[in-house]
Amino acid sequence: MCGIIGYAGPRPAAPILLESLQRLEYRGYDSAGIAVLEPNGGSTVVKNDHKVAELVRQVEAEGLPEGTVGIGHTRWATHGRPSVENAHPHQDCSGNIHLIHNGIIENYRELRAELIGRGHTFSSDTDTEVVPHLIEDQFRGDLAAAVRGALKRIRGAYALVVMSAEQPDRIVGARLNAPLVVGLGHGESFISSDITALIPYTKRVALLGEGEVVTATASRIDVQTLDGTFIEPRVVTVDWEAEQAQKGGYPHYLLKEIHEQPDAVRNALRDRITDAGMVALPDVGISDTDIANLRECVLVACGSAWYAAMVARQHIERLAGLRCSVEAASEFRYSDVLSDEHSLVIAFSQSGETADTLAAVRHARRNGARVIAVTNVVGSALSLEADGVLYMQAGPEISVAATKTFVNQMLCGILLALHLGDVRGVLAVEEHQRMVEELQRVPELIERVLGLEDDLGRIAQRYAHARTAMYIARGMNFPVALEGALKLKEISYVHAEGYAAGELKHGPIALLDPEVPVVAIATRSRTLPKLVTNVQEVRSRDAPVIALITEGEDPFDSGLVQETIPVPGCDELVSPLVDVVPLQLFAYHMAVQRGCDVDQPRNLAKSVTVE
Ligand code: G6P
Repeated sequence: MCGIIGYAGPRPAAPILLESLQRLEYRGYDSAGIAVLEPNGGSTVVKNDHKVAELVRQVEAEGLPEGTVGIGHTRWATHGRPSVENAHPHQDCSGNIHLIHNGIIENYRELRAELIGRGHTFSSDTDTEVVPHLIEDQFRGDLAAAVRGALKRIRGAYALVVMSAEQPDRIVGARLNAPLVVGLGHGESFISSDITALIPYTKRVALLGEGEVVTATASRIDVQTLDGTFIEPRVVTVDWEAEQAQKGGYPHYLLKEIHEQPDAVRNALRDRITDAGMVALPDVGISDTDIANLRECVLVACGSAWYAAMVARQHIERLAGLRCSVEAASEFRYSDVLSDEHSLVIAFSQSGETADTLAAVRHARRNGARVIAVTNVVGSALSLEADGVLYMQAGPEISVAATKTFVNQMLCGILLALHLGDVRGVLAVEEHQRMVEELQRVPELIERVLGLEDDLGRIAQRYAHARTAMYIARGMNFPVALEGALKLKEISYVHAEGYAAGELKHGPIALLDPEVPVVAIATRSRTLPKLVTNVQEVRSRDAPVIALITEGEDPFDSGLVQETIPVPGCDELVSPLVDVVPLQLFAYHMAVQRGCDVDQPRNLAKSVTVE
């Protein structure tokens, strides 16, 4: 949801802004722009209603600005269609103030009418443009003070960075319910929506709290609350490497991230398994007494994380014996909360910034529930708000569609289930240790599945023309069917539905014909015989079947299914981590065959920080 970068330092700002926007593009790619304060007192603004690569060409053609203070933005449109006028940065009437914003200004209509009434002129349809005009009204020589004054008038969510030709040594940032972090370099400062954009420049990051305003010059930062009180910034060191955020020889980030999954799983297991072969989660933030007193778990998440939470629910019920519900965060946040201090809310979110997930957590908290965050981003809003955090430790994920973080979310769900089961005394030590051994095999199992890529590429070639597809599974793998269908929809624009196999006959079977491939997850499980019957039903309607089976355990009569994908055998409880991988590769190759923009699918954004 809109990428933001600001720079104040000794180097020319434009190359840093453009390079960062390329890293941030996964947040939104409807339009992009930069503004740089020039040494002679003026400023250069370049905007484009295409992707960042086009902006780079335009800036280079027009001549790189020389200034060393600047801001840049890549947009995911909410108010106002993608166009040059609506692209950020936006200006005030004087053209001195430049501002970039991510979020939604809910009361912008009233503010806009009021400002027009006072003689301000607007040049875009965006909600954002009211902010530089409000700042213009408040400006008395101190930009940060003017920003604080303006923000007091605003309702809604914002992460913004502002600069003014009248105080050209600084950028001022502020956030409320949208992500913004400050990078602390040597003699230079950065403000960004994402840590990923900062890692080539610095690993020291100051986290901003809700409603805080930061003033950054080349040599220092000051953080204040909206009422002007100075506060000590919380500085963390990020252990991501710059190379992790590059394609590393792969044609797409998505493919690279699929191939990183064995290492992502190894990383997430590191330091979490004791010598006795048991899971230890010291940072989980909930005492053993509180865990013993729990009556239920409520899992909330959005998108792929929601499906990972559906898998986690089954693990928690089976391994920890706790009643567990799972809800899309966007639904849960407006539901009648029945949770209380005996409820544990586990929020899954790769970014830790998804607006609905944050709102769901706050909703549950009001009734006294405890919260554990499962997130990939150190210092994300979710990590700051939760009682405890379990980091996915998957490394940066750039491609919009989640892959390695989906697997690590499911893995974290299993780790939590084992921890809860252990503390509650409902899980036998031998069973716990057996599960840990199974988990430790997962990286190698995924590596073997990655070896099937050529076969999956060929299968994708055969079905690339499909207009719709169905994914079926049961039990642990039902959410994996949902995720497989979501991957296909997201990146190859083929309509797909995930269905609990037993439900197919209650409606969707009417859609089947020889043109509708059905992907069936038919790996080892306690419900496999039932699933085989469901596949028979599909074949009786002449729909072609692509079946995931366990190596050496083909459950189908010869010739029943059109394609088989043999995956290595493992315990049903860890099978979702392995079975999702061929579905990711299938969707990837479908997208490539169909000529789609794999890493930046149309209309999507990686992190959805608006409701
Ligand atoms: C967006 C992304 C999805 C992601 C979802 C939740 O829709 O495109 O890939 O699963 O947000 O994101 P989160 O950061 O909360 O896991």
